[in-house]
Amino acid sequence: MNPNWIAPSILSANFAKLGEEVDKVLAAGADVVHFDVMDNHFVPNLTIGPLVCEALRKHGVTAPIDVHLMIEPVDRIVPDFAKAGASIITFHPEGSVHIDRTLQLIHDCGCKAGLVFNPGTPLHHLDYVMDKLDMILLMSVNPGFGGQSFIPSALDKLRQVRQRIDDSGFDIRLEIDGGVKVDNIREIKAAGADTFVAGSAIFNQADYKKVIDDMRAELAKAG
Ligand code: DX5
Ligand code: ZN
Repeated sequence: MNPNWIAPSILSANFAKLGEEVDKVLAAGADVVHFDVMDNHFVPNLTIGPLVCEALRKHGVTAPIDVHLMIEPVDRIVPDFAKAGASIITFHPEGSVHIDRTLQLIHDCGCKAGLVFNPGTPLHHLDYVMDKLDMILLMSVNPGFGGQSFIPSALDKLRQVRQRIDDSGFDIRLEIDGGVKVDNIREIKAAGADTFVAGSAIFNQADYKKVIDDMRAELAKAG
């Protein structure tokens, strides 16, 4: 089993001082920077693009940047994000007509690749591409906004995907995104996740280290 990764979503950070916010959350023990890209088309909100990713790299951020594309179409922007310093690029199957080609494109650009499943999106998109995945991201809210509540059916979906990953024998991280808090991270881990996105749970508190430490303590209890 992969080590646990805590991936703060900068969607809930203070964008007026983003570099500092990212430095602070990494110093507080985060493993990965979760970078939410929205286009006001695939989801009803508009956020940040490759320029901001590049700015974080220029600022000195060396941690992996986990780019979650909530956009349609996907392919045109992938090389831009790779050049801007993305480490992992994930996208929704509904955002790409040719998901195998998009996964290949992400790898050709030198990044790790993953597919994202909305709460209502079936898992059959995994059927023929497990060998091309470095990450599977399950949404536990409908994408577009931070601060929503965790949808409980995501737990059963996590268990199903954990089984698929274990059966496949491939090294694929299982990430969960939406409504992750100190008080539910343990059962999310027990259902099979190893990568935990948390936006409002971390950035809405004054002490990021305390939240991350509390999350790790809960994760340790899940075994
Ligand atoms: C939602 C985004 C999430 C979001 C999570 O569309 O993909 O990454 O920022 O925020 P919280 O942790 O507040 O649910
Ligand atoms: Zn996200």
